[in-house]
Amino acid sequence: MTPIPQLYIIAAMSENHVIGMQNHLPWHLPDEWEHFKKVTHGKPFLMGRKSFEAPDALHSTYRNVILTSNAPDHPEPSTEYAKDISSALALLSGENEVFILGGATVFREMLPMVQKLYLTIVHAQIEGDAFFPVVDQKDWELTNTEYHGIDDNHIYSFSMNVYVRKTPG
Ligand SMILES: NC(=O)c1ccc[n+]([C@@H]2O[C@H](COP(=O)([O-])OP(=O)(O)OC[C@H]3O[C@@H](n4cnc5c(N)ncnc54)[C@H](OP(=O)(O)O)[C@@H]3O)[C@@H](O)[C@H]2O)c1
Repeated sequence: MTPIPQLYIIAAMSENHVIGMQNHLPWHLPDEWEHFKKVTHGKPFLMGRKSFEAPDALHSTYRNVILTSNAPDHPEPSTEYAKDISSALALLSGENEVFILGGATVFREMLPMVQKLYLTIVHAQIEGDAFFPVVDQKDWELTNTEYHGIDDNHIYSFSMNVYVRKTPG
């Protein structure tokens, strides 16, 4: 039987929910970036067209599925396009785990469907134009958290959190 993939969001947001500014990440936090690469290594990615095109985007070397209403005629290697979420999930139906990489539109659309959140909280109020949706804490259990303080390479402290959706009942 074809497995139905587990869907995981991975994101980093400030305390005021900012995730981006003019299609860039609004911070430079190398150890958070390393965490992101380690968690997602070798996994398929699902993301919106703007995040895929962002200059600081991380692409999967294995498989990228991009949501867009306007697919190019000649996709890059390891890249497929889907015109809506159900077509994207159909393409990914044979996978065990899929990481949803954003951005704001795709997080908002897909938060209700995901089983796990790898959500880093950057401990700062940041100005931006792209936001992570409100997470209703009663639906989620915090299963892991790792704090990283300010140092020479990180101007903000941050917490790398993992939340698992609570099962109803
Ligand atoms: N901090 C983080 O963790 C993180 C992670 C990722 C991104 N970001 C930030 O998020 C921002 C980008 O977010 P965004 O909301 O502007 O863009 P986005 O979600 O990356 O991409 C939006 C585009 O994806 C396509 N799309 C989305 N949902 C679709 C659907 N259901 N069906 C078909 N196509 C769909 C559309 O493409 P077309 O216009 O081509 O139709 C839409 O314009 C950037 O600032 C980026 O830096 C932050």
